[in-house]
Amino acid sequence: MGLMDKHAIIEKNATLLLVGSLLVVTVGGIVEIAPLFYLDNTIEKVEGMRPYSPLELAGRNIYVREGCYLCHSQMIRPFRDEVERYGHYSLAAESMYDHPFQWGSKRTGPDLARVGNRYSNEWHVQHLMDPRSVVPESIMPRYAFLKDAPIEVKDFSTHLVANARVGVPYSDDMIAHANADLMAQADPNADVSGVEKRYPKAKVGDLDGNPQQVTEMDALVAYLQMLGTLVDFKTYDDAAGYR
Ligand code: HEC
Repeated sequence: MGLMDKHAIIEKNATLLLVGSLLVVTVGGIVEIAPLFYLDNTIEKVEGMRPYSPLELAGRNIYVREGCYLCHSQMIRPFRDEVERYGHYSLAAESMYDHPFQWGSKRTGPDLARVGNRYSNEWHVQHLMDPRSVVPESIMPRYAFLKDAPIEVKDFSTHLVANARVGVPYSDDMIAHANADLMAQADPNADVSGVEKRYPKAKVGDLDGNPQQVTEMDALVAYLQMLGTLVDFKTYDDAAGYR
């Protein structure tokens, strides 16, 4: 009985074929997936990564609520054209505090993974209020209403607690100051030393051009302005020995 004849047994028996296929897929899957839980470059902690500040988290919630991910990805792939256009390819660690992640699968607009610090706050506000006033050929919808929507949260600490439950390292200190930090970050008259200590590199001050009120526009701009800015790629690549 040759090898081909033995295979004929499987081919003629549907149940055996099913069990055999299942076995092959299981082994193949384990071989492909299991190493990802151990390989350094998929689980490494990268210096600079920190949880979102309360205002950034509020902005991120608005980003999700408005469906920005339907037109924008947040993952720069390791291809030359992408890296030249958007900057260093995204690291796994850069989305490790994202629940849910915002990688996206559609790019009607550009990738936003590193849009932070690329434009001024004023540009973002103008662009979100009326995209065509700064990019005439834009097809992006307007989000002008965000500027008139005050941030309304009874207790923002619950958002931090929810994230902490799924593994984001929000400390008791961060949770205790959540409401105060949320308001202070966009208030030009507030003492922001606490925000800056707890959330290094957070954009502070009046972000939406209206110092009287903390609005959803403040939150969204705070979020956009920090995207991709936490990891210092000069030190990262040096440490990893890439340069
Ligand atoms: C219908 C698709 C669509 C939706 C929804 C959308 N955008 Fe856009 N966005 C675009 C397009 C197209 C561009 C490129 C033209 C331009 O700059 O306006 C763009 C550009 C941008 C840019 C400038 C990026 C760069 O590098 O120049 C930012 C920032 C941005 N969008 C943020 C957002 C945010 C935040 C939301 C959700 C509140 C959103 N977009 C929703 C289509 C969309």
